[in-house]
Amino acid sequence: MQKYFYPLVENPYRKKDIDEGIKVLKSRRLTTGLLTTKFQNTFSNKIKTNYSLLVNSGSSANLLAMQCLINPYRKKRLKSGDEVLIPALCWSTSLWPIVQTGLKPKFVDIDINTLNIDLVDLEKKISKKTKAIILVHVLGNCTNMNQLMRIKRKYNLILIEDTCESLGTKYKNKYLGTYGEFSSFSFYSSHQISSGEGGMVCCKNEEDFEILKALRSHGWSRGLKNEKTISDKNQNLDKRFIFYNSGFNLRSTDIAASIGLSQFKDLQKFIRNRTINRNLINREIKSNLKVSQNFNILKQNNHVKASWFGIPIIISKKLLRKNVIKKLEKYGVETRPIISGNFLKQPSVKKYKLSKSTNMKNAELVNNKGFFIGLPTKKIEKKIIKKLVKSLEKSI
Ligand SMILES: Cc1ncc(COP(=O)(O)O)c(C=O)c1O
Repeated sequence: MQKYFYPLVENPYRKKDIDEGIKVLKSRRLTTGLLTTKFQNTFSNKIKTNYSLLVNSGSSANLLAMQCLINPYRKKRLKSGDEVLIPALCWSTSLWPIVQTGLKPKFVDIDINTLNIDLVDLEKKISKKTKAIILVHVLGNCTNMNQLMRIKRKYNLILIEDTCESLGTKYKNKYLGTYGEFSSFSFYSSHQISSGEGGMVCCKNEEDFEILKALRSHGWSRGLKNEKTISDKNQNLDKRFIFYNSGFNLRSTDIAASIGLSQFKDLQKFIRNRTINRNLINREIKSNLKVSQNFNILKQNNHVKASWFGIPIIISKKLLRKNVIKKLEKYGVETRPIISGNFLKQPSVKKYKLSKSTNMKNAELVNNKGFFIGLPTKKIEKKIIKKLVKSLEKSI
C-alpha cells in the first residue's frame, strides 16, 4: 500500500520523456553530444541566459561557477580568503563549493516573509573582503531583485544565483538566473523539470563560458573558441589532447539531455498546473479558520511570478514542529524541511568551523517552525485537496 496519499514528489516522467531517452539509447550515442548542445541552446533562448552549459547536477553547476571565479584565465579573479555572502537557509552544495574553492563563506539571515536573503542583514555583513554573493532563490520565490541589484552595484559584487529550486520564476518579467554573472539550475527528480540527475550552469560573458567549458571537461582545449590557436602554440603536443586548464569531468549525457529537453518544452504547462493546484489548496485552507490560523503559507514576493517548487509552511508559535510532522506523516502527507533549515546547525559547518555562532533569528524560526509539502504537476482531485486540509487540521 502506498504510504502517502499526498507525497512530496510523484514520478515526473511521462511516456514521451522516456521515449526520447530510449531513442538516444538506441542511437548508442550516449555521452555529451548534439542533444546536449540542443538543450543548452533551447534553454538559453527561452530563459534568456547568454550562455548555458549542461552538467550532471545543480551542485556541479555551483561548483563550476565558484571555480571559475578563481581561475587564472579570468582577468578579474578572486583570491583565497575573499568573502562570499550566503543566506543561512541554503542547500549543502550552495555552500560547500565556496569552501572547496578556498573562498570564505559569511552567513546572512533571511527575511521571514520571503524566506530569501534579508537585504538589511546582507548590507550589514559586507566588508572590504566581500567580493561576491550567492543568492538562493527559495522554492520558487525570490527577494526584491531591484534592491539586491542596487547593493550589488554599490559594492561592486559578483552575483551567483542558485536557481536550482526556481526554474521559470520571473521577477518583473525577467527570469531568475539572468540577473547575476552566474546562475545554476537543477533537474533532479523533484524539481520544476527533471532529467534524473542534471543541471545547467549559465553565465553572462564569453570569457567565463570558455573557462566553464574547459573546467567541465578535464580542462582540455576541445570545443574552446581558441582551440586552434592553443594547438598552434603547442605543436609538440597531440592537438586532440591538450590540457589547457585545470578540470573536472562534470558532463552529463545525451540521455539526460533528451529527457530534460522533452520536459523543458512543457515547463510553462507545468508552472501553470502547479499554480492552479496551489491556488486551489490555498482557497481550501482559507475556508478553514483553524488551519489558516495555524499554518502560514508562503506568499510570492511583490513583482514575482513564481514557478512554485512546493508549498512552504510556517506553523504558529504554539505548535511543536515535530508533533505536527509526526501526525501529518501518519495521515499520509509527506513533509520535509524547508531546504535544510538553519544550515549553521549542521555538523559539517561545526566541523569546518565556518561560523562562531549559529544565531540567525529567522533561519532558526524556519528550522523550528517550517516544513514543506509537495505540489504536483498534474491537476489534483478535489477530494485529495479536502483530505489534505483535513489532515492539516487534525495535526494541530
Ligand atoms: C538550493 C539548491 N541548490 C543546489 C541544489 C543541488 O542540486 P542537485 O541535487 O541537482 O545537485 C539543490 C538541490 O535540491 C538546491 O535545493
